Amino acid sequence: MNINQNYENLEQSYLFSTIAHKVNDFISKNLDKKVIRLGIGDVTLPLCKKVIEALHKAVDEMGVQATFRGYGPEQGYDFLREAVQGYYKKRNVELDLDEIFISDGAKSDVGNILDLFAQDNTVLVPDPVYPVYVDTNVMAGRTVIFADANGDNVFLPMPDKSKKVDLIYICSPNNPTGAVYNKEQLQAWVDYAKETNAIILFDAAYECFISDENLPRSIYEIEGAKDCAIEFCSLSKTAGFTGTRCGYTIVPKALGKLNKMWLRRQTTKFNGVPYIIQRGAEAVFTDEGQKEIKENINYYKENAKIISETLTRCNIWHVGGKHSPYIWLKCPNNMKSWEFFDYLLENAQIVGTPGAGFGKNGEEYFRLTSFGSRENTIEAMERFEKLFG
Ligand code: MLT
Repeated sequence: MNINQNYENLEQSYLFSTIAHKVNDFISKNLDKKVIRLGIGDVTLPLCKKVIEALHKAVDEMGVQATFRGYGPEQGYDFLREAVQGYYKKRNVELDLDEIFISDGAKSDVGNILDLFAQDNTVLVPDPVYPVYVDTNVMAGRTVIFADANGDNVFLPMPDKSKKVDLIYICSPNNPTGAVYNKEQLQAWVDYAKETNAIILFDAAYECFISDENLPRSIYEIEGAKDCAIEFCSLSKTAGFTGTRCGYTIVPKALGKLNKMWLRRQTTKFNGVPYIIQRGAEAVFTDEGQKEIKENINYYKENAKIISETLTRCNIWHVGGKHSPYIWLKCPNNMKSWEFFDYLLENAQIVGTPGAGFGKNGEEYFRLTSFGSRENTIEAMERFEKLFG
């Protein structure tokens, strides 16, 4: 027996597990202090009414012989795939049902999709970025190279034609920086991918936070993207499904074998998302569901505004928060990101995410999320302003 030695090349633990461990340690030693978590991007508002109704109804169906369901289609029930198809159609993106695959979230599929690609592919990942892209490739032993995102390019790296890569990760709106590509910039990535025969893995998990109609929410709004891109999306941040788990992946048939290969992979290794959850997800795409989730998204955006205004008053450089639930700030007083993490936890009992956890270019930055409650966000910002105002 030989173990997969590539695991030796990973960070010791997943970023958010390290943070949880540090926070729990702090709490156990400071039981009298109220810690406010603005770290991991986990939602706090409950599922919307329309979703709850659909979930209840589906639970009842499962208790009746005539409507009970066992194994479902691995790629998702048609009712949900049709709802996703309709959602894309509103943005003039035409998808066939067999290009839509229902999943238990973007995180799983972003990792699982790598089953389709050879181990010797070179992977281009922006730095900083969601750590799952790097970790899943390191586990498979692939070579990862980085596209530097920094203040100079407003955290939106563009293709470097001198580099030959096979797989390109793009996350827009970006986690952790909140930066969003416009259509021309995404067009440049699509053109580059097509010229070099690369595949773009486009993570659209935060698309619903885009408030400017001119900004692309799907890569398929860009000409030629169906020939070179796979898109991942999730209801986690869109509709509060972080604990309920449902998302979708689009593998266009224009990508040739990849569409059938993904179906083959899913039918072999995945049993699909539970019927009850898919019924809840379907409700998100109804007119009423869309209205209700928008109210929740606006609530988080208002939190982002509160955070951003506080940082402005404290003279702290920051971006994001506008088309994204994340605010990306420069650590004050030249602190490094883990140093600032400890400082904020010790002195204000606020938990954020150190930029270094997203890559070397995050070393001097820090991420705050707007997914907290209004009350906690206000309280955290009052504490923050006392320290830095
Ligand atoms: C984050 O905080 O970056 C996200 O919650 C992680 C995730 O979606 O898996």
